Amino acid sequence: MSAIRVRKVWVEYGAQIVLEKLHLDIAAGDFVAIVGPSGCGKTTFLRLLLGQERPTRGALLLDGEAMPNEPDADRGIVFQRYSVFPHLTVLGNVLLGSELQGAPLLARLFGARRRERIAAARALLEEVGLGEHLHKYPSQLSGGMQQRLALAQALITRPKVLLLDEPFGALDPGIRAEIHVVLKRLWKETGVTIVMVTHDLREAFSLATRVVVFDRYRKRKEERTRYGATITQNIEVRKRDTGASLDAQNQLGRDDPATGERLGRDDLASAQQ
Ligand SMILES: Nc1ncnc2c1ncn2[C@@H]1O[C@H](COP(=O)(O)OP(=O)(O)O)[C@@H](O)[C@H]1O
Ligand SMILES: [Mg+2]
Repeated sequence: MSAIRVRKVWVEYGAQIVLEKLHLDIAAGDFVAIVGPSGCGKTTFLRLLLGQERPTRGALLLDGEAMPNEPDADRGIVFQRYSVFPHLTVLGNVLLGSELQGAPLLARLFGARRRERIAAARALLEEVGLGEHLHKYPSQLSGGMQQRLALAQALITRPKVLLLDEPFGALDPGIRAEIHVVLKRLWKETGVTIVMVTHDLREAFSLATRVVVFDRYRKRKEERTRYGATITQNIEVRKRDTGASLDAQNQLGRDDPATGERLGRDDLASAQQ
């Protein structure tokens, strides 16, 4: 449960500008979905929030303090694939996260503390519907089950911020709908701040409190590769507390209060590419 402030952040690799002048406020407990064309820097942005990448200019603040420069237990992440360890069981994967947090130099805990952590891991696995599969290995699980395991692994340390990089992109629509229900429940129960990259606009609008579009669309086409992506739209979809929908469709065609830019269906469609 943490507020994030992004202030005029740039990311450049040599002459290549990936992200340009990003400006964004994320309130504690918000669920932000990020959409945008492939290669426009969405994963780079999550890596900034995780502490794996530093801005070349600008500042990132977590609860008013400079964002820590290294990943820590306050920030969990789930990728589209390969977030879990194949050689550990379901229970082992979740325990590893909690053991590393409790004793970084001594990865195994003993006695009462270990029993507490096992109980917490089992309870969380029960919540994501894996209570019957504690001793299976990831290869024995379906894609949907593996991603539910990855969520449990990321949440066991009770992070303040949960980062999701196209976590359900490889799943069938039916399975996706099931996991959406699980994610929504976990978000509401924990109050964690979520930032999720997705290719699926329907997913973005059905889950998030705010949908943020990354794009380079303001530049002339031949210049696009020279410039970085920036935030071209920032749309509040629903209230965090009440879950009430603000009917984002009605906002199209109006000026975006955040940027003063005109919103249009085509902009959203281009973000889905
Ligand atoms: N460590 C790096 N060094 C150089 N270029 C990088 C590095 N990481 C990412 N990039 C470049 O940054 C751009 C954005 O990549 P990425 O954040 O993965 O985009 P997205 O997730 O939106 O598809 C790409 O052009 C990629 O090649
Ligand atoms: Mg990516």
